[in-house]
Amino acid sequence: MTCKIAPSILSFSQAAIAEPTRRLMAAGADWIHFDVMDGQFVPPITFGAALVASLRTLGNTPFEAHLMTLTPERHFEAFAKAGCRRITFHAEATHHAYRLAQSLHAMGLEAGLAINPATAVGAILPCLDTIDLALVMTVNPGWGGQKFIASTLAKVRKLREVAPDLEIEVDGGIDPDTLPIARAAGANVFVAGHYLASQDDPAQGLACLRKLCA
Ligand code: DX5
Ligand code: ZN
Repeated sequence: MTCKIAPSILSFSQAAIAEPTRRLMAAGADWIHFDVMDGQFVPPITFGAALVASLRTLGNTPFEAHLMTLTPERHFEAFAKAGCRRITFHAEATHHAYRLAQSLHAMGLEAGLAINPATAVGAILPCLDTIDLALVMTVNPGWGGQKFIASTLAKVRKLREVAPDLEIEVDGGIDPDTLPIARAAGANVFVAGHYLASQDDPAQGLACLRKLCA
């Protein structure tokens, strides 16, 4: 599976979000990852579809909304209209992950299904024939800059074993030390927020992660 790097903008200041986002798009990011939090599914509140829409004109890089929200289906239309190509919602936030994934396809979007560190990989398996991507959280959702939880990689290994062609994304604590470990477990899409935001030049950080994917 080809490696994709999906910078998260969560760790950049929202007062000056356009420039780092533009630079990462120009530097070849495969996706831009938007961490949408509602203060219910996770304690923080981050931003809505309006911020995503405001960045859409910066380039053509595909946008992914990672909905850390209750009732994610209430937000599908707004993030589709804002220009997202994929919406990833949490299995813990719905009783109807299969139907929600189907509804995203009916809207012409890709469907991603995410699981928290405490959620078994079995929550994803029944949906494998209707999702485009599985997101295995490698930190507790809600904050950037947390420590990578290596035990979550057992779920990545299991997913890669049963679904060799699935896009498997890891999200949280990804940096030059942890990316190779996650890749070896079978992940191929890497979300990085704090690591990139902590570089003098995020584009250099992106290039460093890209080299580790080769
Ligand atoms: C956490 C988010 C992550 C985060 C990126 O709830 O889903 O995408 O912003 O994590 P770090 O900053 O660890 O790369
Ligand atoms: Zn995320």
